[in-house]
Amino acid sequence: MTNVPSSLSHFFPVSRRRLLAGAGMALTAMALPARSFGQDRAADGYRVLHARAGQARLRGNDAGPTPIWGYDGMSPGPTLRVKQGDALKVRLVNDLDQSTVVHWHGLRLPNAMDGVPFLTQRPIEPGQSFDYHFAPPDAGTFWYHTHFGSSEQLARGLYGVLVVEEREPVEVDRDLVLVLDDWRLLDDGTIQPSFGNFHDAMMAGRLGQYITLNSADTLDLAVKTNERLRLRIVNTANSRIFQFRIAQHAARVMAVDGQPCPPNVAPNGVLRLGPGNRVDLFLDATLKAGARAPITVDDLRGGELEIGRLVYDAGAPLREQPLAEPKPLPANPLPAKLDMAGALKLDVPLDGGGMGMMMGRGMGGMGMGGMGPRRFQGYGVPPQQRIWALAGVAATGHDGPPMFKVERGRTVLLNFANRTAFPHAMHVHGHHFRQLDPSGEGWRPYWLDTVIVDVDRAERLAFVADNPGKWMIHCHMIEHMETGMAAWFQVT
Ligand code: C2O
Ligand code: CU
Repeated sequence: MTNVPSSLSHFFPVSRRRLLAGAGMALTAMALPARSFGQDRAADGYRVLHARAGQARLRGNDAGPTPIWGYDGMSPGPTLRVKQGDALKVRLVNDLDQSTVVHWHGLRLPNAMDGVPFLTQRPIEPGQSFDYHFAPPDAGTFWYHTHFGSSEQLARGLYGVLVVEEREPVEVDRDLVLVLDDWRLLDDGTIQPSFGNFHDAMMAGRLGQYITLNSADTLDLAVKTNERLRLRIVNTANSRIFQFRIAQHAARVMAVDGQPCPPNVAPNGVLRLGPGNRVDLFLDATLKAGARAPITVDDLRGGELEIGRLVYDAGAPLREQPLAEPKPLPANPLPAKLDMAGALKLDVPLDGGGMGMMMGRGMGGMGMGGMGPRRFQGYGVPPQQRIWALAGVAATGHDGPPMFKVERGRTVLLNFANRTAFPHAMHVHGHHFRQLDPSGEGWRPYWLDTVIVDVDRAERLAFVADNPGKWMIHCHMIEHMETGMAAWFQVT
């Protein structure tokens, strides 16, 4: 934990970008690795992936590159593709000078492959490797990322996208990955190294002032009229919630957090993604030849920031008409039933953080006569770093006693009540859950693995604990996770 000089505000305003930027980076020419799963294979069939230092041109081609850490030296790392049910075999070689692990976010995989240090595996030491081997049960959009020293390693770029393809191909013209991230850069383009500092941890987490799409400053996505794109949008930021929009187009949501949902068009086209969230869109390119449409995110001040564009080909349309309304994606083998009557029910209040007193809250409030974070009991988190708590306990989620134990097959109902001054993105490992309707009856028509719990709100979620092992529950705002907002549970 490095402390930043107090002159560094916890809040970095997002820099104004060129609005009608000249040429953005063309998607075809840009750094998102085109290398597919299957290359760099060891003799035993493993895809060898190196966690190592590299470079990314985050600020466009005119500015110098930024030193990053990435899988195979790239951020995002190579997009891994595997067919649903087929074996994914990845050998992670640690070429960093600190320990690491890889977590497969959103995968309902065997516990030993979950990549949580101390809970499911030993950290991979520098120079060592670890074999990840599992068959993804669900088709959809997932991602892989470091789960060690995450406030630094994730901020430096150690993540990539995992696409689990449907057994039968889905009818789209192109299938593209769009990764949202924010970076906190110094003027010389290097990553500002105040990882895990107290200010960020107390507030909204580490927010970068520089927002990228596929690590490009401005991404030009070439399209043809009446083409249908499948866009897999992933929020890999440490702590930022993005409100993502493609102007002038209907964004048809086909899947959320990797799991198919009834196709629905987002109101106003705005998609809100917390850290870790994914959305699969089918986007029909309905504008005329030569048209341009901005791709934007919110700038946290009520405005929008252009991070890319759809750039229509000037030539003939791909086809005369857009394709017909899509059918839903094929369902994944998720639990058919939730037994709410027999469920294990738990209240999990979210407490702690800064601004509590300022906002007249009873909880939170720093430095007020010993009412700081030390009040939480904790496991593995040093007292001075116990800023946040789940159900009254500040923990790493790697050790200490479990938050709960549940016998395999039982339904679990968690009630997350946010009593802090910041939103949180609560993530459950190894399972997907339903977000219950506030009315008390039924649930939203999708599955999630990460849910945003807004200030003064409660979210109730339910899942079948059908995956044996030790699983983390934590806030995916990494600076919150590392200062107490983490726990684990055991499925026996
Ligand atoms: Cu995406 Cu515990 O993580
Ligand atoms: Cu949080």
